[in-house]
Amino acid sequence: MITSISSSFLLVGAFVALRIRAEKKKTSVKKTGRKVFRVYVDGCFDLMHFGHANALRQARAIASFRSTGGGKEGGDAEGGEAEVELIVGLVSDEEILRCKGPPVLPEQERVKCVRAVKWVDDIIANVPYELTKEFVEELLSEKYGIDCIVHGDDPCYLPDGTDAYAIPKALGKYREIKRTEGVSTTDLVARLLEYADASENTTSKSAGDESSGGKRSEKNERHEARFCTTASRIAQFAAKVSYSKTSKMHEETEKRKTDKKQRKNERNEETTCCYVVGAFDVFNAGHVELLEECSFVADKVVCAVIADEYLTRDKTNQPPPMLNQSERAMSAIACRHCDDVVVGAPARLTDDICKTFNVTAVVFENDDAVTERDRNVCEKNGVQILSVKERVFSRKKLTIAKRVQANRALFEERQKRKMASEKAYYEQKAFVAED
Ligand code: CTP
Repeated sequence: MITSISSSFLLVGAFVALRIRAEKKKTSVKKTGRKVFRVYVDGCFDLMHFGHANALRQARAIASFRSTGGGKEGGDAEGGEAEVELIVGLVSDEEILRCKGPPVLPEQERVKCVRAVKWVDDIIANVPYELTKEFVEELLSEKYGIDCIVHGDDPCYLPDGTDAYAIPKALGKYREIKRTEGVSTTDLVARLLEYADASENTTSKSAGDESSGGKRSEKNERHEARFCTTASRIAQFAAKVSYSKTSKMHEETEKRKTDKKQRKNERNEETTCCYVVGAFDVFNAGHVELLEECSFVADKVVCAVIADEYLTRDKTNQPPPMLNQSERAMSAIACRHCDDVVVGAPARLTDDICKTFNVTAVVFENDDAVTERDRNVCEKNGVQILSVKERVFSRKKLTIAKRVQANRALFEERQKRKMASEKAYYEQKAFVAED
């Protein structure tokens, strides 16, 4: 039997949604002590991917380095334990439309994805695309207390062709990080368009239904991955993050720990592990919601990112995933709601997996994927099968792909411009050290 946990978490969900709305109004982030080094990264973070996550990780690493006195300026923290906070400025939908073209994901979904990244302490929503003198002064003022402003080493121009970061650069408050190779929103949009088209040409009876699968053009079975998943990157992504005592995240993490402890005591429960199986292709707000809900019910959430070999068309009658298993896993590792990630997991649950992770509950990204064999394994090992229904956000990539397809002309126009600037960036690209 599959037990639904969505209804029992409606209340928690409503609370989270309200908090996010409240946060949008109250964007002020107060600085309380000199020892906290605050770094600011802004951006659109559309179709939030592991390249964006790596940018946030590096920005936080810059802050750690400088707050301990390692920076060129001799350190901004005056001794003592170093604490850092990473504040993300999320550009509004209107500003993205004005400066780049239409965003794929509306602000609400972009907020959900950025907040879920473990290096993020807080978000300032609705920021302008342009870092005007007034806005930079506000960021550096007591109101936000920002110590430095960070962007990737790709040039960022305003519609009039000027450098969007000219002001923080002139003030000596700008720091650059290495842009992550082989991934971009532009690249993902291209894959989504192709996927949406392919799903319409499906030979299957129920066209449009993601689980029925569609046909992708044979020449493009999967875009060639250009991202290099090194061991050190996995280790950097998997490292635990500690939050400063003044961070909202510290508060939130502590509250969650206390709630869990209380629930455990009340129910006299053993330590619980929720094993979440799925492709996690084009990691999105629906995935965040899924993992978040799992984290409400279990002490530990293990995200099992299914291996490419089990997701081929002949095994699933679906088009292969748009991202390969390493790329899919990186986004899951960066998610604060995951305690561990299996990179290239088997598609089916086994007795051995249940024992290895001491699994108490299993959730499938897609309920229809549960087989008779999975049910038998669960019964034998005393594992509960839980169902997490989509509540606020869809986790189906086809839903996102259809949005792109519905605005094809606008997106193709945007793609043309972005592809030209990406090409120029790669042509002039030189080595930049990664923090
Ligand atoms: N970024 C990065 N590596 C990538 C993509 C983005 O380091 N592969 C960084 C950008 O340099 C920026 C931040 O992520 O500092 C937010 O980027 P965003 O404003 O979303 O826009 P783009 O740079 O255009 O990112 P994308 O090409 O993915 O749209």
